[in-house]
Amino acid sequence: MTKLAPSILAADLARLGEEVSACEQAGADRIHIDVMDNHFVPNLTMGPQTVAACRRSTRLPLEVHLMIMEPDSIIPAFIDAGAETVTIHVEASRQLHRTVATVHRLGARAGAALNPATPLSWLDELLPDLDLALVMSVDPGFGGQAFLPQALDRVRRLRRRLDEIGSACEVEVDGGVDRATAAACAAAGADVLVAGSAVFGVPGGAACGVACLLELLGRGQAR
Ligand code: DX5
Ligand code: ZN
Repeated sequence: MTKLAPSILAADLARLGEEVSACEQAGADRIHIDVMDNHFVPNLTMGPQTVAACRRSTRLPLEVHLMIMEPDSIIPAFIDAGAETVTIHVEASRQLHRTVATVHRLGARAGAALNPATPLSWLDELLPDLDLALVMSVDPGFGGQAFLPQALDRVRRLRRRLDEIGSACEVEVDGGVDRATAAACAAAGADVLVAGSAVFGVPGGAACGVACLLELLGRGQAR
């Protein structure tokens, strides 16, 4: 079953609690929180306070996607705020193995993300320790960008590699996932799809966005 993780980057932040609950009611599996530092990516977004606000609004697991340089010092604050999964970028951390170990020691699941131009092989040594591997299907920094089709082959290759080593690590795709691209991502072997604009930016809002994507993934609810 392919899971859906709505990204609140595209939500109406003035109504964050309602937006997150609407996702839960409509059957989303987890909430994706995009953290940007204006160094690793050219944009600035949310921090641990936003994670805590989501934590008060839903029982769904929260995953934070840290698009920040040298994340180690701030990781504990995200976990204290209620993050279940902490995903770092392999391009942004000097001591990846240590960072992943820190996330685990603090009781969270550890993810690692790859920018579109980063070779998959950068993950090789880490795979046995990871709970989630995130293939970016846009250059990170903004919602609403077009899906890069080369991500599909990267998902296929990563899936194959994980199957070869018998790993339970999840494959996640993030960026430009919408009604046109979701099914192809699932078919390529993604376990989790992140979607921002396709959830919050559609007529009918999050309830419709989530329902529509779940339907495409063969998870429509009988009404
Ligand atoms: C982009 C973020 C994504 C973003 C996806 O840097 O990591 O999670 O919110 O937004 P859409 O689904 O609109 O491409
Ligand atoms: Zn993201």
